[in-house]
Amino acid sequence: MKLRCALIVAALASGAALAAQPLPKADLAKGQQIATQVCAACHGPDGNSTIAANPKLAAQHPDYLAKQLANFKPGAGGKPAERESAIMAGFAATLSSDDARNVSAFFGAQKLIPEKARNKNTIELGQRIFRAGIADRGVAACAGCHGPRGEGIPGQFPALAGQFADYIDAQLQAFRSGARANDPNAMMRMTAARMSDAEMKAVADYIAGLR
Ligand code: HEC
Ligand code: HEC
Repeated sequence: MKLRCALIVAALASGAALAAQPLPKADLAKGQQIATQVCAACHGPDGNSTIAANPKLAAQHPDYLAKQLANFKPGAGGKPAERESAIMAGFAATLSSDDARNVSAFFGAQKLIPEKARNKNTIELGQRIFRAGIADRGVAACAGCHGPRGEGIPGQFPALAGQFADYIDAQLQAFRSGARANDPNAMMRMTAARMSDAEMKAVADYIAGLR
């Protein structure tokens, strides 16, 4: 009897050792607490900001949000942050990596209240750039990385659909000028470098209307 028990225990133990190590699970309640106390003033209690300068965070991939929070922190030894924002630097600096994971998981789990496209005259141009890029200047289709409906790919590319057009436009300009340079392999800087102001505005407005 004793031996049988020992065998079962051994079998359970080896089974557990074979299972993949799960990532530490995010604590949504803790995430919500941070969101309510610190972030809600600008991003809304559920990540549906109402002001275009403050991006919507609702339904964004949590790993992308956590990466941005890490990138906003000033580097070691006085090095500048990988993504410079006078506003976000201070908030990001106060978050531990557990806090960042929890608050990112909370916002990622909220339902997005999407924006709308507003400019009928540029929708066609915006759609063409989003779906097909700008072939003669080597601008890749946004859809190739961000998905056909702007839904993004977890672990790789952020969702864009329903975001404020002005925020999208501002980020494209920041990638073009190099003010934002936290994109792996300069993927966004190379894309934005070859786009005109009018093209950025058109694709940003189209993205606001994507679902
Ligand atoms: C005082 C207003 C303010 C507060 C409070 C604030 N943010 Fe922000 N946040 C901003 C602004 C403005 C930006 C856009 C920065 C830029 O233009 O690059 C931003 C950007 C972000 C981004 C990048 C989103 C993206 O799509 O790339 C994340 C993630 C974020 N904030 C998370 C948080 C979290 C989490 C908190 C609370 C701990 C917080 N923010 C508190 C104003 C704020
Ligand atoms: C080769 C892949 C690739 C292509 C093509 C691409 N992107 Fe991106 N994009 C990325 C990656 C990767 C990021 C995230 C960068 C980071 O980690 O901060 C990003 C980020 C962004 C952001 C910032 C989102 C936020 O919430 O701050 C915007 C806006 C954006 N892309 C718009 C576009 C548009 C518009 C196009 C088409 C003209 C496009 N992208 C084409 C890979 C791509």
